[in-house]
Amino acid sequence: RALSIVKEFEEKCGTPIGKLRQLGDAMDVEMHAGLASEGGSKLSMLISYVDNLPTGDEEGLFYALDLGGTNFRVLRVHLGGKEKGVIGQEFDEVSIPPHLMTGSSEGLFDFIAAALAKFVESEPEVFHPPSGKLRELGFTFSFPVKQTSISSGTLIKWTKGFSIEDTVGEDVVGELTKSLEKIGLNMRVAALVNDTIGTLAGGRFYDQDVIAAVILGTGTNAAYVERAHAIPKWKGLIPKSGDMVINMEWGNFRSSHLPLTGYDQDLDAESLNPGEQIFEKLLSGMYLGEIVRRVLLKMAEEAEFFGDTVPPKLKIPFILRTPDMSSIHHDTSPDLKVVGNKLRDILEISNTSLKTRKIVVELCDIVATRGARLAAAGILGILKKIGRDTVKAGEKQKSVIALDGGLFEHYTKFRVCLEETLKELLGDEAADTVVVKHANDGSGIGAALLAASHSQYLGVEE
Ligand code: BG6
Ligand code: GLC
Repeated sequence: RALSIVKEFEEKCGTPIGKLRQLGDAMDVEMHAGLASEGGSKLSMLISYVDNLPTGDEEGLFYALDLGGTNFRVLRVHLGGKEKGVIGQEFDEVSIPPHLMTGSSEGLFDFIAAALAKFVESEPEVFHPPSGKLRELGFTFSFPVKQTSISSGTLIKWTKGFSIEDTVGEDVVGELTKSLEKIGLNMRVAALVNDTIGTLAGGRFYDQDVIAAVILGTGTNAAYVERAHAIPKWKGLIPKSGDMVINMEWGNFRSSHLPLTGYDQDLDAESLNPGEQIFEKLLSGMYLGEIVRRVLLKMAEEAEFFGDTVPPKLKIPFILRTPDMSSIHHDTSPDLKVVGNKLRDILEISNTSLKTRKIVVELCDIVATRGARLAAAGILGILKKIGRDTVKAGEKQKSVIALDGGLFEHYTKFRVCLEETLKELLGDEAADTVVVKHANDGSGIGAALLAASHSQYLGVEE
């Protein structure tokens, strides 16, 4: 009976190559619709106001804040222009206390401001700005924001584990500035960016062939370089570069071709944001372990998978985290010792048989494989949209996609499956020109670079 639950789940999770192609097409269609008009699609295709990506000329000392991943980070980046590149960077990492993720706007931004103030205190004296000059900051804020300029924007909605009603609709730079003023720290936010935009900018600094960035972490999202005249909803001037970077917010992608199961529907219904971020809930780090837990619970309840009582811990939402699922999935010991230990330590299920452990591993494989293949289909959609999914005669233009996020970085089987699926989707020739590259923590540097290129002191002699 337990096996039949797994089999049925596996069938519903199926992602045959034909379905992935349909999803790639659907992504492409939704991208067009989201660019055409505000609210035209589940994909909001947000305009980032970034029309110039780093060139390498950026210089000076800049701060960056990175909020929205597993950890909150403050960074100080010393940029030395073409010759010297990134001369130095330091950072401090703090985890956001869970109660602040669902508390008040003021509470969250006060916490961030305090962490920044503490970090600024450690600034070496040689970097202290001359009087009258403000320190400048790139703010990576990894949630959907409707930008009103490069350095301002209102929060559309929270995603992932955050839910603070009074921030929605507010200018997040205003919120941060208020908290900074309260503690007497006078800094200027020169750029407000999504983590995908930061990663794209950071990636471009090292490699001019980077055309898109994808985050696979707690949440998932992508950004890419679009031609400004291909954005009907953009009513501003066409920038000199002709380009505009778009934050797709692909986590909210939806399509009838998505392999949704009853477990996914229940997870969604019981989440902080029901009906939202359906693509994200199928493939990002916040949810993969939780999907596995839900299937295991059903197996325990309906098929006595773990004996005649249902292990109480298994009933606790989010108790099985994706990093633990990854350890289970990567266990290569003959008796699946790691699996046994994880089941014992996390779920308090002892003395599991090898057969039971094998089934648990198989379940992780089904969930991770579905997620990775869906991510590959999403990337195919972007490549289609910008005409890079096929190789044109005589052209060998490289397309580099910068990837970051804990899931991509640490879940090897997920990453390998994504890369293989993308190759399979593209075919040999195109697969040679498309490169997936890990842009490690690029978004912090990216935000600092964008702060530099939008500095109010640019061109002003000291
Ligand atoms: C980091 C980026 O490396 O990855 C962040 O610098 C991003 O900007 C994060 O938000 C996403 O990964 P995770 O796993 O921390 O959610
Ligand atoms: C969520 C956010 C998005 C972010 C992504 C990755 O999907 O809405 O803005 O880029 O997570 O962190």
